[in-house]
This record gives sequence, structure tokens and C-alpha cells, in this order.
Amino acid sequence: MACLKLDERALNGLWNSDHWERELSDPQRLCVGIAASADDLLAMACGWVVMDELQITLIAVDPEQRRRGLGRTVLKQLLADANNAGAKQAWLDVAEDNLGAQALYSALGFKTIGRRARYYRDGKDALIQSLEMQREVKLT
Ligand SMILES: CC(C)(COP(=O)(O)OP(=O)(O)OC[C@H]1O[C@@H](n2cnc3c(N)ncnc32)[C@H](O)[C@@H]1OP(=O)(O)O)[C@@H](O)C(=O)NCCC(=O)NCCS
Repeated sequence: MACLKLDERALNGLWNSDHWERELSDPQRLCVGIAASADDLLAMACGWVVMDELQITLIAVDPEQRRRGLGRTVLKQLLADANNAGAKQAWLDVAEDNLGAQALYSALGFKTIGRRARYYRDGKDALIQSLEMQREVKLT
């Protein structure tokens, strides 16, 4: 499965194959990707829409393909798809020391609206990022 392979390369295996099967078969969940070929995914972003909110659960770009705009592209596409599905606000968590990802979210208009203390297994805090889609992101 291309998602699982990219997950292993980019995120050290955040989700196992069962989790990916559920993610890809659940109609409430959205996943977008950019592929070099059927079996070679370069970037992906996933989330789920509940009512008018998008909870972003994952964004990853192949380590050899970073800083080429792929992360921005998949995230914007996920936001556009969620907006079409009725979402007006997006949320995600990011590790306090993940400055690259924070820069990407900030560039798209996300604001830090809170902190979850010791949220990750290694004891790091998570910063809660939020985006009001209709006001701050141009989706077309
Ligand atoms: C975070 C991640 C998805 C960014 O993907 P990417 O394709 O490299 O990002 P883009 O090229 O689209 O970057 C868009 C903008 O985000 C910012 N940005 C992205 N990565 C950055 C970095 N490492 N340092 C500083 N700014 C960064 C920049 O403003 C960049 O614009 P610029 O290149 O014109 O300066 C990628 O680094 C990744 O997969 N990291 C590992 C997984 C991860 O941390 N996921 C997020 C978990 S919350």
C-alpha cells in the first residue's frame, strides 16, 4: 500500500496497515495525495470532517521531496475538499519543536490557539493550530 510505504519513510510508521485500511474506507475521512506512480506516493494529507470542522490527522512528504511545495499543495487540497464537504474550521496538533511544519501552517493562516502539555510519548507539548477557512484561506 503506497500510503503505508510513505508513512514508513516520512513518519517512521505512525499508522499500521489496519489503521490505513480503516482510514481509506471510512467515508467521513478524507485523504489526498500526490503520486509519482501508482505505487509511489510523494505527499499525503488526511483528516476527518465532523459537522463543520475538519480535524487534520496526518500530513507527510517524502524526505527527499521536501521544500518543493508538495506539503502546501496537499494541505490546501485537503482544506478545499473539507470545505466542499461543509467544513468551516480546521484543527490540528503539532509538536512544539516541529518548526518546519509550524511554518507551513502559519503560511496558510493557521493560528496557535492552545497547548496540550506532554501530549506526545516523548513528553513534548502539542500546539493546537486552528484555521477559519472561509476567512483566511483562498481555496481556489
Ligand atoms: C512538514 C512537511 C509536511 C512540510 O512539507 P514540504 O513539502 O517540505 O513543505 P512545502 O515545501 O510545501 O513548504 C511550504 C512552506 O512551509 C514552510 N516550511 C516547510 N518546511 C519548512 C522547514 N523545514 N523549515 C522552515 N519552513 C518550512 C515554508 O514557509 C515553506 O515555503 P518556502 O519553501 O517557500 O519557504 C514535511 O517537512 C514533512 O513531511 N515532515 C515530517 C512529517 C511532519 O512533521 N508532519 C507534520 C506533523 S504535524
